[in-house]
Amino acid sequence: MRSALTAVAFALVLGLFGIAFLQGGAAEPPPAAPPTDASDTTSPTTAPETSDDLLVRAQAVFRPLPTEPPVLEGNPYSPEKELLGRMLWFDPRLSSSWFISCNSCHNLGTAGVDLQPRSIGHAWQRGGRNSPTVLNAVFNLAQFWDGRAEDLAAQATGPIQDALEMNNTPERVINTLMSMPRYVELFEAAFPDAEEAVTFENMALAIEVFESTLLTPGARFDRFLEGDTAALSDLERQGLELFMNRGCSGCHMGVNVGGTNYYPFGVIERPDAEILPPDDVGRFRITNVEADRYAFKSPTLRNIELTPPYFHSGVVWELADAVRIMGSAQLGQELTDEEVAAITAFLRTLTGEQPVVEQPVLPPITSLTPKPVPTGRP
Ligand code: HEC
Ligand code: HEC
Repeated sequence: MRSALTAVAFALVLGLFGIAFLQGGAAEPPPAAPPTDASDTTSPTTAPETSDDLLVRAQAVFRPLPTEPPVLEGNPYSPEKELLGRMLWFDPRLSSSWFISCNSCHNLGTAGVDLQPRSIGHAWQRGGRNSPTVLNAVFNLAQFWDGRAEDLAAQATGPIQDALEMNNTPERVINTLMSMPRYVELFEAAFPDAEEAVTFENMALAIEVFESTLLTPGARFDRFLEGDTAALSDLERQGLELFMNRGCSGCHMGVNVGGTNYYPFGVIERPDAEILPPDDVGRFRITNVEADRYAFKSPTLRNIELTPPYFHSGVVWELADAVRIMGSAQLGQELTDEEVAAITAFLRTLTGEQPVVEQPVLPPITSLTPKPVPTGRP
């Protein structure tokens, strides 16, 4: 009991720092906790928060996930684009081997991930990082762990050409798509004003529109944010309170409970080399700014229970372990087992309704279609 009260007092003080930190908006960790007087159980700050207070505070930090896709700048939605994007998403012929589609590593039946430590791509090679979920990715400030693609359309051209992923070339992709009359029709319907409809850029735009529909609204946490305070259990509420008071929400906030900025992994305490491999310097490789060494995008925590293993290195399988590591690495706090359990319970309330996506029937190949190259460069 005493330790629980101490934790709350501790947490409230930190919470104030957390809010100041939020308003500052800088990509820096919240300051370390000031010492608290454990014997002072009479302090008014130790009174448990009512669920309404908690709701009001949560509403200032998080937003419920919309049920409709956002408007994409320069890429208006149309059902034709969505359909084309869905077909391209599932089409393994965008890879040189005809064996790998976007869905191979972002399986929509498993919350948009491949459940691999690091993805397996072309010719069974392992890539350098864990595959992040594509669900709700449209709300991230940028794409990839290091944010090197500014949006989903820019992102989509990457894996197709990556030698460790789909190992293809833009020319070969266009020849492949042009060789199938049904694809030409679908592109013309999706891009009716284009002089040339079948282009690498339009392929990426269609995929972006499809991906923008991959949302998971209706999580219990969303119902809570919309005012249904009974949507969370006591333990989950406790977890949410800890999540905000300890400073997790200083980096995991907004509609995606993350995806809003970059932070060094290990701001306070450097994780083991296995979890933070020294050779992956993160965003530093993009910006060459020293402060970005080992900085990564704070990932969305939506559907997090469905997307192990965790971190860009993909070596941590248990969500509770990931929470514990965040406590020490990002906040310099050894969380107790009870605290870890409460936070983990809260994180499970971020699981939303998974999109039900129909697997499309893909256009048949013709004699003009470039044939698969199972190994090596095409
Ligand atoms: C071989 C596995 C593999 C394939 C195939 C693949 N991806 Fe990925 N994807 C990854 C990995 C790994 C990352 C993270 C790479 C990084 O951050 O450096 C990623 C990142 C992403 C992201 C960024 C998400 C975020 O939150 O940052 C999106 C979006 C995405 N992929 C979409 C696609 C699309 C669209 C395709 C098909 C054109 C595709 N992927 C094909 C493995 C794959
Ligand atoms: C200073 C910013 C910061 C703070 C504070 C922070 N995180 Fe993180 N979090 C990150 C970053 C950055 C990553 C990605 C690390 C990586 O893999 O490189 C991450 C990753 C995670 C992951 C793994 C996500 C995935 O998809 O693999 C979980 C879970 C998580 N954080 C939960 C928490 C919890 C719980 C707290 C509070 C105890 C917390 N975080 C505090 C920045 C932060």
